[in-house]
Amino acid sequence: MVSIHYIGHSAFALDSGNRQVMIDPFITGNPVSIAKPADFAPQTILITHAHNDHVGDTVEIAKRTGAKVIATFELAEFLGASGVQNATGGNHGGTIAFDGGSTKFVPAWHTSSYEVDGQFVAPGVPAGHVVRFGGKTIYFAGDTCLFGDMQLIGDEELDVAVVPIGDHFTMGPNDACRAVGFLRPKVVIPCHYNTFPPIRQDAAAFKTMVERQTPAKCLVLAPGERASLD
Ligand code: NI
Ligand code: MN
Repeated sequence: MVSIHYIGHSAFALDSGNRQVMIDPFITGNPVSIAKPADFAPQTILITHAHNDHVGDTVEIAKRTGAKVIATFELAEFLGASGVQNATGGNHGGTIAFDGGSTKFVPAWHTSSYEVDGQFVAPGVPAGHVVRFGGKTIYFAGDTCLFGDMQLIGDEELDVAVVPIGDHFTMGPNDACRAVGFLRPKVVIPCHYNTFPPIRQDAAAFKTMVERQTPAKCLVLAPGERASLD
């Protein structure tokens, strides 16, 4: 039994029993979020890459809750130096256990850096996460283009694939629909759109395209909306 809460942009929270996992918790400064960082008390935070619209409120939430923060190695080191007590670095192909589940790092084609006062820090590479939690397998693509090895990620037998559709910084709707064909999830959830002007997209049109061209069901969530994945 697991539920998914779309905070907005690429920020999500998964809940199962009394366990909570956050993914890319960008809340403060997120133009579409109606939540506040204090609304969440995760045991685990998963980060896809260092861009500020993904790291978001990670340090503040982790300092308050003691959450284990899982990211690629260089970013985990940076977050550790920024005051996160329990930052665990992994890398592509590796699986890391957390309270109630695990995540496997998979590739993502993008860049990764954290900006502080106009300086880009926290080098490293981006990743996607294949999360096993609450009896479900949920893939968070992070920011990425379409790539052929998504077919291998599809071999993980995904219940849900969370994919960016915004274009400009990531794949757009047409490539995201091709990604769904490679990933073969039961359900696809679009994200990383309508947050800022360059990534405006029509999610209803994406849903129609996905459900016409693939067997997957497309679940469009509004920021602040929760859905049960059972
Ligand atoms: Ni990014
Ligand atoms: Mn992004």
